[in-house]
Amino acid sequence: MTGAAGARPIALVGLPGSGKTTLGRRLAHRLGWELRDTDLEIERRTGRSPAQILDVDGEDAFRRVELSTLTELLDGSRPVVVACGGGLFAEPGARRMLLETAWVVALDAPDSTLLERIGAAADRPLLRGDVAARLAELRRRRDRAHAEAHLRIDTAATSAEVAEAAIRALAGAVAVATGTTSAYPVVVGEGAADHLEAHLPAGCRRVAVVTDRSVETLARRLHQVNSGSNIVYCQKGLPAGEPVKSWAATGRLLERLAGLELGRRDALVAVGGGSIGDMAGFAAATYCRGIAWVVVPTTLLAMVDSSIGGKTGVNLRAAKNLAGAFWQPRAVLADSSVLDTLPARELASGLGEVAKYAMIAEGELPALLEHGLERARQGDVRTLTAIIGRCASIKAEVVGRDPREGGLRAVLNYGHTVAHAIEAAAGYGTVTHGEAVAVGMRVAGRISVASAGLPRADLEWQDRILDRIGLQPLPPVEPAAVLSRLGHDKKAVGGELRWVLLSRRGEPILDQRVPDGLVRETLEEVLLTS
Ligand SMILES: NC(=O)c1ccc[n+]([C@@H]2O[C@H](COP(=O)([O-])OP(=O)(O)OC[C@H]3O[C@@H](n4cnc5c(N)ncnc54)[C@H](O)[C@@H]3O)[C@@H](O)[C@H]2O)c1
Repeated sequence: MTGAAGARPIALVGLPGSGKTTLGRRLAHRLGWELRDTDLEIERRTGRSPAQILDVDGEDAFRRVELSTLTELLDGSRPVVVACGGGLFAEPGARRMLLETAWVVALDAPDSTLLERIGAAADRPLLRGDVAARLAELRRRRDRAHAEAHLRIDTAATSAEVAEAAIRALAGAVAVATGTTSAYPVVVGEGAADHLEAHLPAGCRRVAVVTDRSVETLARRLHQVNSGSNIVYCQKGLPAGEPVKSWAATGRLLERLAGLELGRRDALVAVGGGSIGDMAGFAAATYCRGIAWVVVPTTLLAMVDSSIGGKTGVNLRAAKNLAGAFWQPRAVLADSSVLDTLPARELASGLGEVAKYAMIAEGELPALLEHGLERARQGDVRTLTAIIGRCASIKAEVVGRDPREGGLRAVLNYGHTVAHAIEAAAGYGTVTHGEAVAVGMRVAGRISVASAGLPRADLEWQDRILDRIGLQPLPPVEPAAVLSRLGHDKKAVGGELRWVLLSRRGEPILDQRVPDGLVRETLEEVLLTS
């Protein structure tokens, strides 16, 4: 596994007069990329202007030329800003291609501004006649398509300000491309959530901000920095931590969304750790049969893991995460500076999960962790941003290849077979997820040395990293209780547990059977010494 991420083109869409060319020039200059305008490309390729093709060959023929031109522009050979011609994004084929391969930025401004910019509109064939009426008609026809864009930005401000807003809203974004819905960005860095409004769907009037009470101050700050539009923010503060992931709390939240009269085009923003994200995401998946949601993760674990991949859910009496849905967010905005208030135990828990990524993937993460672990523990924002960015890339790559956990996504479960059993045996809430994962990794690592060829040096590297994280030791847990939980899990998967092991660092192997005796011996050895 590599965890690689490439530069993604930026495509500008919008009604006539929304400023695609002007902003395109600014953006391209600012990024040092090429600007390509689909209309000019068509002229270059065919020797005819779009107006001529439309007049002579009709709209269908024009759209075909436009689509093949777009395919060429998005071939991925160079970083490019694409200013898209009028109705291009309203065409389903072009829209799918753009949403999968580029960051699509929908530009908009009030009709009065657009009309002023359009002027006489002599060269705009789709706006001949009563310009205001034609513009209103175009807006009505294209509104739904524009709502699907990754970002929406009001261009009433100066083009320099708009370009900066777009750049900052996407700075360092990792794309999660699940194939089932449009790709979405994971934006990592200081101030990542300051451009929250750009990530809300066009047409969104109300936003329900769901947060847990320990991060309410952060949620309030988000309202303040994002209060430039007509969107109404409604906040709901819930109890902190795992208890919020209950059926009852979800029901109360859904009733509250209805009470706020949230509509199908409105959105929910989850500000919090994995508990809030899982529960609020589940509410977003079910309210009105699914509304848009954005995650602002506030724990390290949520930033590197739970917020990415669209797994949402709540706990039932019988088991954790038993009710849930796959529901991908529109964006994940991970502001590493909000970790400064996170208790040290929770930060260490997140680092446990980070260590897992360092064992399952190749690339820079192992070195980053080896050299930056102490700085990360002290909350150094630059180090944390780098680490979170790498983990997000790895998770995005895995999720992109296996959106619904059909196979490959299991690599993320290295160390988790035993971790889940420890969490259940110790009693939920007694140990943090990362503490349990670290012990699970020690077990899976030793089994990997014994039966999958993992070099001992790789296991020693893993153990040294885990030792340096500063995780709280487990409370006394009986190996027999953990084995009994593993037995339950075995029944749940039809009689045989399948392990994720490593043949070397960065090379996970799936679906491994491990003899019961080896599991017992290794577990006893690890639990006695941790
Ligand atoms: N959906 C997935 O793919 C996925 C993956 C891994 C884990 N999870 C789930 O995530 C949950 C655990 O998430 P978590 O570890 O983020 O814990 P959490 O959400 O329970 O938060 C832990 C504690 O930290 C507090 N907190 C959060 N952010 C803070 C901040 N910035 N400053 C101060 N305090 C803060 C919370 O109030 C809480 O008390 C579990 O329910 C687990 O099942 C889901």
